Formats: sequence, C-alpha cells, structure tokens
Amino acid sequence: MCFSDQLAAYHGLIEQGLDKHLPASTTRPARMHEAMRYAIEGGGKRLRPMLLLATAELFGADGDSALPAAVAIECVHTYSLVHDDLPCMDNDDLRRGRATTHKAFDEATALLTGDALLTHAFALLATAYAAQPALAHSLIQELAATAGSQHLIGGQMEDLLAEKNSNATTDDLEFIHLNKTAAMIETSLVLGGLVGGADETHCATLRTVGRHLGLTFQIIDDILDATADTETLGKTAGKDAAIDKTTYVKLHGIDKAQQIAAQNTQSAIDSLQSLSGDTTFLVALTNAMTKRAN
Ligand code: IPE
Ligand code: IPE
Ligand code: MG
Ligand code: MG
Ligand code: MG
Repeated sequence: MCFSDQLAAYHGLIEQGLDKHLPASTTRPARMHEAMRYAIEGGGKRLRPMLLLATAELFGADGDSALPAAVAIECVHTYSLVHDDLPCMDNDDLRRGRATTHKAFDEATALLTGDALLTHAFALLATAYAAQPALAHSLIQELAATAGSQHLIGGQMEDLLAEKNSNATTDDLEFIHLNKTAAMIETSLVLGGLVGGADETHCATLRTVGRHLGLTFQIIDDILDATADTETLGKTAGKDAAIDKTTYVKLHGIDKAQQIAAQNTQSAIDSLQSLSGDTTFLVALTNAMTKRAN
C-alpha cells in the first residue's frame, strides 16, 4: 500500500474508533455529549492516534487492540485544544476550520467538554484493557504523567508565563515545546509500543523519536502561524506575532527555525530506523509532518 492509502486507512480506522468509543450525542446531558463530539469530530490530522496505531503495529499488535488507546490520546489532545482556545488562554475563534467549542456552545460548556474528554480517556483505558491489568496500568500511568502538571499542563503554564516575559530564553522555549507538545507525541509512540509489548529499551528509543518529532511539530506550528493563511490552517493565522509571543520564529527567524526543525526530523528518522521491523510508514509520516501545510 502506498503512503497516502495507508494514511487514509488509518484515518478511517481512527474516525470509526472515535465514533465507537465516545458516548452517543443523545446521552443525557445531550448538550455535553454533543459538545464532546463537536470538538472531536471537527477533523484534525489525527497525528497522535496514527503514531500510536502504526507503532503498535510495528511491534506486532493488530489495529483493533490499539484502537481504544488511540481514541484515548486523541481525547486528551482535543481537550487540550478546547481549553487552549478559551478566552482566558489563547482566545481563539477558529479551530479545525470551524468555530471553537466555546464559540459554538459557550465558555462553561467548553470548559466542561475539556474536563469530560480528559476524564473519558482514562475511563476508556481502564475499561478497554481491563482483561490485561498490567497493560492497563502502564497505559494509564504513561498518559497520566504526560497529561499532568510536569508535562502538557506544565508546558501550557510556562507558555502563558512566557507571553508576559519579554526575556524568555531559548531554554524556556525548549521546555515549553518539549512539554506542551512533544510530550504527547512521545507518549503516542510509547502507548503504541506498550500495546505491542515493546520492552524498556525499545520504549526509550520511541521516546527519542517522539521528542525530536514533537519539537519539530511545534516549530512548524510556529512557522505556519507566521507564514500560512487562516483558511489553510483552519485556525487563526498570525496570532503569535500579534501578541509578540516567544516562539522559534521570534527567537531565531524563519530560516533558522526551519533548520532546527529539519535537524530534529533527521534525528527522529535516525532513531526510528534503528528499530527493527518495517518503519517505512512512520518515516514517511514524520517527513509529511515536517512538510505539512496545516
Ligand atoms: C495543534 O495540534 C496544537 C499543537 C500541539 C501545535 P495539531 O496540529 O495536531 O492539531 P489537529 O489535531 O490536527 O487539529
Ligand atoms: C498549544 O500550542 C499546544 C497545546 C494545545 C497543548 P498553540 O497554542 O500554539 O496551539 P495552536 O496553534 O492554538 O493549535
Ligand atoms: Mg497556546
Ligand atoms: Mg493556541
Ligand atoms: Mg500555534
């Protein structure tokens, strides 16, 4: 199968998984479940669940056994976007090509939608992997650590602090990117590895891949914010420059930021290729994320 067919196949599987593993929109309170589905079903590249499924497959798991974990990571990611867009954070009106959840519903509903998606991720892991308690435990432990105050939330906290600090350094920025973005990408690969039975050495390699890919991913996000248009992005372009936000683009300029992204992409690919098995899809996905338009 060629790369674009594989991409489409994973995409289809993920959309089916999301539909299957989220409460129906008619579940009481319907407004809550409509908002959860609105946020999730708004499209998105599905990078994290795709990395998870492809990594699980690399280690010999089938798509079905990895799907609940893939849905769980997309729930945590989508919650982080719903909250990131709130007026008290980035105050964005557009996400995935349509109104942000707080615009389509209201702020309180968006806050609760994020809370519900985050909680649902852990309920799903605990339920779907109940027959394999050791696996359920390691999946929950991994995702909880990454979603918590020292990684995703910690990165978002320092991101907000850096907006008010004109002296933010490259070290501060690296901390922010590693935690608000790269940690979730790293964990996507590790969760896939865990479902596939990867040992600690392999999980360490997957972390290296994810860290480099994650850094690249956020650097490209910052470059696209400065260079792409709102329609292509599906979210408001030019937001970072408008508030003079500390980004790789601001600290290094676009060319140097591109170079740093390319170096990290290469490091991610080198580590991927050190794994045995067919890494062709994961390498192509890594390259595609570096060249992405949105
Ligand atoms: C956006 O993530 C937030 C960042 C970490 C840069 P994505 O670019 O993966 O957003 P979707 O899921 O495709 O909408
Ligand atoms: C946010 O980074 C990353 C998370 C949601 C954790 P940004 O604020 O740059 O993401 P976008 O550009 O709104 O997607
Ligand atoms: Mg933000
Ligand atoms: Mg934002
Ligand atoms: Mg951004």
